[in-house]
Amino acid sequence: MAAGPLTTEAGAPVADNQNSQSAGPGGPGLIQDQLLIEKLAHFNRERIPERVVHARGAGAYGTFTVTADVTPYTRARFLSEIGKQTEVFLRFSTVAGSLGSADAVRDPRGFALKFYTEEGNYDLVGNNTPVFFIRDAVKFPDFIHTQKRDPYTGSQEADNVWDFWGLSPESTHQVTWLFGDRGIPASYRHMDGFGSHTFQWSNEAGEVFWVKYHFKTDQGIRNLTSEEAAALAGQDPDSHQRDLRVAIENGDFPSWTVQVQIMPAADAATYRFNPFDLTKVWPHADYPPIEIGKLELNRNPENIFAEVEQSIFSPHHFVPGIGPSPDKMLQGRLFAYGDAHRYRVGVNADHLPVNRPHATEARTHSRDGFAYDGRHGGAKNYEPNSFGGPAQTGRPLWEPVPVAGVTGDHPTPVHAEDDDFVQAGNLYRLMSEEERERLVANLAGFIAQVSRDDIVERAIENFRKADEDYGKRLQAAVQALRGR
Ligand code: HEM
Repeated sequence: MAAGPLTTEAGAPVADNQNSQSAGPGGPGLIQDQLLIEKLAHFNRERIPERVVHARGAGAYGTFTVTADVTPYTRARFLSEIGKQTEVFLRFSTVAGSLGSADAVRDPRGFALKFYTEEGNYDLVGNNTPVFFIRDAVKFPDFIHTQKRDPYTGSQEADNVWDFWGLSPESTHQVTWLFGDRGIPASYRHMDGFGSHTFQWSNEAGEVFWVKYHFKTDQGIRNLTSEEAAALAGQDPDSHQRDLRVAIENGDFPSWTVQVQIMPAADAATYRFNPFDLTKVWPHADYPPIEIGKLELNRNPENIFAEVEQSIFSPHHFVPGIGPSPDKMLQGRLFAYGDAHRYRVGVNADHLPVNRPHATEARTHSRDGFAYDGRHGGAKNYEPNSFGGPAQTGRPLWEPVPVAGVTGDHPTPVHAEDDDFVQAGNLYRLMSEEERERLVANLAGFIAQVSRDDIVERAIENFRKADEDYGKRLQAAVQALRGR
């Protein structure tokens, strides 16, 4: 801020910022006291709606550097050359807690990454988990309602959480992940990130590939136990946020090695798992992750509200050579985020410094609305026009996908080895004995809070279907805690 006297919003010098005006020393206030009115009114409007999920988070800027030739797979220009660098902004978050909640909790972590590319901003709005609880967007509001506060009690209720998960067996894989050792990362720096969904890449010749993104932390994975997290959350609710800021202030820049799994389009129809089912991973033996880049965070935002609270990330922000897959969760998300941004930040949210393209400029014919800054000057606001305005390219960002069948409420198609439990069981069997013990204890501690026997039984049954031993141990642990 420039030097000089304190002013009003309109820039007039302020004489007294300690005493408001009144009719005589002991009398009532005056409507002519514009400073008082302006300050109180502005203060009332300091909050914008918090994100309906992922409200609590922290962000930082950095750099993505390409380390492998991926031009056979995608024509995205920011990926076109080894050594090429692109500015990024990454916002980490928890999911269920509201804006003021603690960081050290058992919850997935958001990993929302914005690449400021020369062909527009590319957003990859992922999590620290490779899978998700459900596979159809139509279930998302119901799912989140069970994670948030109950309309009657005003608290998160074990009954609601386990009722929904028990009745949604496809959640068994992600729930096993979440209650395992990686369910509470020690910090945002000590966890991996995933694009989670399958995305489309297409090369200059128009050949299509399906890809999954992985961001492997170079700091090493570090987690908290349930007990450590409970203590830390009470002592220092801002633990993750502070850790990230201080590390960057100290020049200890966190980084991630970026990998992709690549599936040729022709494999998708016959792959043993439905490759677009978000509750499943692609086993590395089938599609080995290939290293393609390095991500480093090296600059803190200067103003949290302007750059983190008002930052917007949308899964529909694609660039040429990258697009969506038919994953029905992703399809729902292609709508949900832009809608949330218009509600939460406003119709001109894309114009804010953190959100606008940094390596190109947005050239649209949209105009006006709340807080429009007049950036287009007197340029024509329609297209086609004969005044040299920007025009369409004729080339879609991504390639069309063949479809067949009739419209309707279709379940996600099932492939040869698909069921709701196979990968949850595989994950359980991969764990060491100590990990299994902690997993079972974490789950049992929560399930034991459920009030109804039928909900408890249904929840345990899903884990039994994943692995007999898993279900048996869980049942015993829950019984011991509930006394029945
Ligand atoms: C159909 C399913 C989903 C819907 C409808 C949905 C919807 C939303 C909405 C409305 C927001 C708030 C956006 C804002 O106010 O700026 C949000 C944030 C977020 N979601 Fe989702 N979500 C879904 C699934 C997922 C999945 C599967 C992932 C990860 C793989 C994910 C990751 C995130 C992240 C990281 C954020 C925070 C973005 C930020 O930092 O601003 N969501 N989601």
